[in-house]
Amino acid sequence: MKKMNVMVIFGGKSGEHEISLISAASILRAMDKSKYNIITIGITKEGIWKLYEGSIDEIENGNWEKIAGRVRKKKGFGGDMCLLPIGKGNGVVTLSNGKTEKIDVIFPVLHGPFGEDGTIQGLFEMMNVPYVGAGVLASSVAMDKAIAKKILQADGIPQAEYDVITFKQYKKDETEIINRIEDCFEYPIFVKPANMGSSVGITKAHNREELKESIKLAGKYDRKIVIEEAINGREIECAVLGNDNPIASLPAEIIPSAEFYDYHDKYIAGTTRFVVPADLPEGITEKVRDMAIRVYKLLDCTGLARVDFFVESGTDCILLNEINTMPGFTKISMYPKMMEVTGIKYEDLIDRLIMLAIERFNERNPNKKN
Ligand SMILES: Nc1ncnc2c1ncn2[C@@H]1O[C@H](COP(=O)(O)OP(=O)(O)O)[C@@H](O)[C@H]1O
Ligand SMILES: [Mg+2]
Repeated sequence: MKKMNVMVIFGGKSGEHEISLISAASILRAMDKSKYNIITIGITKEGIWKLYEGSIDEIENGNWEKIAGRVRKKKGFGGDMCLLPIGKGNGVVTLSNGKTEKIDVIFPVLHGPFGEDGTIQGLFEMMNVPYVGAGVLASSVAMDKAIAKKILQADGIPQAEYDVITFKQYKKDETEIINRIEDCFEYPIFVKPANMGSSVGITKAHNREELKESIKLAGKYDRKIVIEEAINGREIECAVLGNDNPIASLPAEIIPSAEFYDYHDKYIAGTTRFVVPADLPEGITEKVRDMAIRVYKLLDCTGLARVDFFVESGTDCILLNEINTMPGFTKISMYPKMMEVTGIKYEDLIDRLIMLAIERFNERNPNKKN
């Protein structure tokens, strides 16, 4: 059988650039080289796309950038930073040996804004190439905490009480908005930029002064800000895999070492505890898995997503927190770990994701089988 050309894209402009490098290195090591012919493209933090033909280790340690060349331009496509040709047929890429390869599937191992938010997915649609993960709509809705909440609320998915403000409104009517928030919520209050990730720009405000500061901070990252009731409970995550008939993994628990799972706790302290699978009563485990699938379908997710919840102390209420359509994918990341304890090995996961990408593409393009 002819090998499939899989383009793995890593790096990216978001704050999760480094995680992407580690995720991509893990994926590249695990991909079956007898089935896949792998083409790697790295995106620098500045957003420059570079064709990379070096070793996997250099991706992981960040040195790839120095040795990578820019994506070669195909005849007729101008510009120094030529991207991938759009329009006619499926995407092609020109390698450094001058050979042009047709891309069968793209695996965008990119987290956060510009990787997981529908923007790059739009580019893949324009290129007319199958790609791993959620489509444009599901990616962008899941990235926007305010919109995701609204859609899921309409379908009765339990969530923390929330409100959405714009930074512009806040700057205009600061006192009125602060008063309104204080009328509706009790401290502590979570303040988040609507579109971010990695806990960047998120604060738990304990009083009026902190609330003002946290809105200013969130306003640095987005024009839209989500205000949320703080939930006292356990943080539970669930991995979902599939297109029309998705499956949910056994859930896992995150036990942050800080007051909440903030940026420092996530990426620097290294003291967070992960319990996979989570030690939950069976009834709760099943409810979490069911709700994860419901959320996944409501947002029209495909491929994969990690759905994060709180299980409230005292009430055992399961409340949705957020959906990540390209969760961390290193060998020790939560998503693969949860799938592993559910019976799906890392290598098989990659095969399945590639097949799901092709299945989705073919369903959407019935006249143009890939
Ligand atoms: N309403 C809330 N109640 C309690 N903790 C919260 C709440 N919202 C967020 N957190 C804490 O903040 C962390 C980051 O928030 P989250 O909404 O998941 O943003 P991100 O997309 O950056 O991961 C969560 O993992 C959790 O520890
Ligand atoms: Mg989160």
